[in-house]
Amino acid sequence: MWKKIFGGSKPAAEKKPSGMNPIYDRINWQRLPRHVAIIMDGNGRWAQSRGMIRTAGHKAGVKTLKNVLKAAIDLRLEALTVYAFSTENWKRPRPEVDFLMKLFSEYLLKELEEMNDYNVRIRFIGRRDGMPEGLQRQMNEAEELMKHNTGIRFNVAANYGGQDELLRAARSLAKKVAAGEFSAEDIDAEAMEQELDTAGDPPVDLVIRTSGDQRLSNFLLWQSAYAEFYFTDVNWPDFTPECFVDAMVDFAGRDRRFGGLTNK
Ligand code: FPP
Repeated sequence: MWKKIFGGSKPAAEKKPSGMNPIYDRINWQRLPRHVAIIMDGNGRWAQSRGMIRTAGHKAGVKTLKNVLKAAIDLRLEALTVYAFSTENWKRPRPEVDFLMKLFSEYLLKELEEMNDYNVRIRFIGRRDGMPEGLQRQMNEAEELMKHNTGIRFNVAANYGGQDELLRAARSLAKKVAAGEFSAEDIDAEAMEQELDTAGDPPVDLVIRTSGDQRLSNFLLWQSAYAEFYFTDVNWPDFTPECFVDAMVDFAGRDRRFGGLTNK
């Protein structure tokens, strides 16, 4: 376990640790992303292609998430952010929404202790107030339990929308200016980042989207400003740790210029 292996402190991803799963043999340990964001798409299509109801795909998606989080821990990534439920997902049929809420709640009940053992620091990003009250309580308790953990920062985007996050940040800054806490001229990128749900996390280096569509869908609009994008046709329930390694290998080959000249 992370805590036991690494003594609770997050080591830099500089060299290949010994005794690792051979699926990591292809990893370039010097060129890993610090923060990976995932749009876990294709649960419904996965289920329907098997003659199952859509919600069976979400259930299978939980298992995938568990395996991918473990891979991200093995690779010593600093942060993993996953899109679990968008501000637009409320438009789905009521039974599907209810199923997802129940699934999140069960996930927390079942996985909390193990995540804590792995030194994971969970955080929920998005509008907490729109979620069922019992689930909100569980989210608060989970964050409280893990707030001092020093391992991977695991952000679960629930009732999240990037535009909504930016509006909330703008409102909060406007209130601070009105209260005389600072002047409008002092609003810079750092001040803005402090207001975001992901405050304190490194910027997103890599956005992975499964299931074929190639769009951002209102996810981490500010944080992904210089992110690389990795799209795969694989549906989320079929996205294995090996698929995650494929994305890491692809990322290692990217030429990131951040608006400047080539780094290669
Ligand atoms: C998108 O697939 C997926 C979602 C809207 C829900 C994501 C939820 C999980 C993966 C469950 C696990 C999450 C947690 C935090 C326990 P879709 O339904 O849009 O699939 P489709 O595009 O094929 O219809």
